[in-house]
Amino acid sequence: MEPYFHLKGSFRTSADASEAREDVGRLVGEAKSTILQKGVPDGRGATIKAWDITGNGIFFDIESDRYLRAHEAFIRIRKQLAAVLGKKYRIGIRGIDVEEYTVCLPSEKDLHSKKIPHVSSIDFDGESINLSLDVGEAEIENKVPDRIISLVEDKIRAQDFGGKAEHWNLLWESPKKKYIFTADPTAEAEKLGWIKRAPSRGQWIHGAQMTRLFRTFEQIVIEEILTPLGYTEMIFPKLVTWDVWKHSGHAKGVYPEIYYVCPPKTRDPEFWEEVIDHYKVTLEVPLDMIAGKIDKPIGGMCYAQCPPFWPFLQGKTVDDDSFPIKVFDRSGTSHRYESGGIHGMERVDEFHRIELVFIGTTEQVIAHSRDMQECYKRIFNGILDLEWRMAWVTPWFMAQEGLTGLAGNKEIGTIDFEAPLPYRGADGEWLEFQNMSVNGDKYPKGFNVKSRSKNEIWSGCSGIGLERWASVFLAQKSLEPENWPVAFREKFGEMPKGIRFL
Ligand code: SER
Ligand code: ZN
Repeated sequence: MEPYFHLKGSFRTSADASEAREDVGRLVGEAKSTILQKGVPDGRGATIKAWDITGNGIFFDIESDRYLRAHEAFIRIRKQLAAVLGKKYRIGIRGIDVEEYTVCLPSEKDLHSKKIPHVSSIDFDGESINLSLDVGEAEIENKVPDRIISLVEDKIRAQDFGGKAEHWNLLWESPKKKYIFTADPTAEAEKLGWIKRAPSRGQWIHGAQMTRLFRTFEQIVIEEILTPLGYTEMIFPKLVTWDVWKHSGHAKGVYPEIYYVCPPKTRDPEFWEEVIDHYKVTLEVPLDMIAGKIDKPIGGMCYAQCPPFWPFLQGKTVDDDSFPIKVFDRSGTSHRYESGGIHGMERVDEFHRIELVFIGTTEQVIAHSRDMQECYKRIFNGILDLEWRMAWVTPWFMAQEGLTGLAGNKEIGTIDFEAPLPYRGADGEWLEFQNMSVNGDKYPKGFNVKSRSKNEIWSGCSGIGLERWASVFLAQKSLEPENWPVAFREKFGEMPKGIRFL
């Protein structure tokens, strides 16, 4: 089975074009070997099955395969037709009417989504998914049919793939370590008063002890990576608007996992008075009333941390001596609506992360990613003494757009850093505690950033999750500083005294 496209549509004419019948006939006769042949393998592409001239238009019935989709053929014919009608007959083409556009895409299964914009019906006949497109001139000109086709093909591929199966390929692994501790560090930390569950889903209040641990991790990152590799600190926004996510690609997939942000419709106190009064009288926050007084979401809370940096460079040409750019952000939290159920510190909705972003020529970015991997090895082996491994996985930006597989270029991709959690048992899932990626030209392209020398610009980034580092470190090394590697203990200093309760 091959994809099949079938379009019936007319070009509206400014006057009856009957007198042009012979010329149109000639154009149609030649089309197969001229305009419909360009860039198409021999014998493939689109065929005009029928045509006719009516009082106010010229009708075409076009069939095609994937080499020249019927709607593309239709547009090619329009150009040619306009030339013939205009010159000789002074007749103009006023618009397009699409009566019917059917697209059949081979698939082993039905599509589970039945609601796609500009698609009026979706049927499955056992070997292909048949779409009836509801498109007009504007949609055809804006390439809506092509985007519908890619979307459905992506869905078919994802369904055959068995959902969101990620690619995974081991790159490096440390020797096995002897575990000295097999309890769940979150439960242990709660008991010791290092952390306490906060009111929101997957949110914690970190006490002095856990905070010291996080800050020690940060200190290590500064000493072992940021300083030697020449990073400077920046502050990235933590409320991310749709515009940023359109450019970063997140607008293609992030919806189930973001925390949405809605501003008030106005800050006029009078507008809010009934909400205020309602609360004062009933001591209940009137959520429905509030829902009517806030605007639609302008975006969401920080999700991937690096996208809101990019408007800093957007539309700019960067001087070559600024490359490689190396900046980091640790100015606030990231938020993800995690899967249900109660989790420990290893899976949270609000988390703390240091995000490192590097940008430069292809060579600079690839070389930098190698240097950074060496730094990480020194930390996890030499200071934290962890059992861990690195795996080559689907690039995070693809995964966050809902895509599977690997990037086309083999240098582009994400390294997940993973570690076993002894309390989960020998066959327990390893925890991804940070990542590092070469993202290719995805971001410079998406945000239209160029270099003065016109060299191709690439970027990469690395997200260091402090909750994740803590989960792995404490799970493997316990909450007893006596058990911690000396190099780490020295940096940590004395355990802060927490707050004691009666
Ligand atoms: N931006 C990357 C991610 O979201 C690294 O933090 O995974
Ligand atoms: Zn990033």
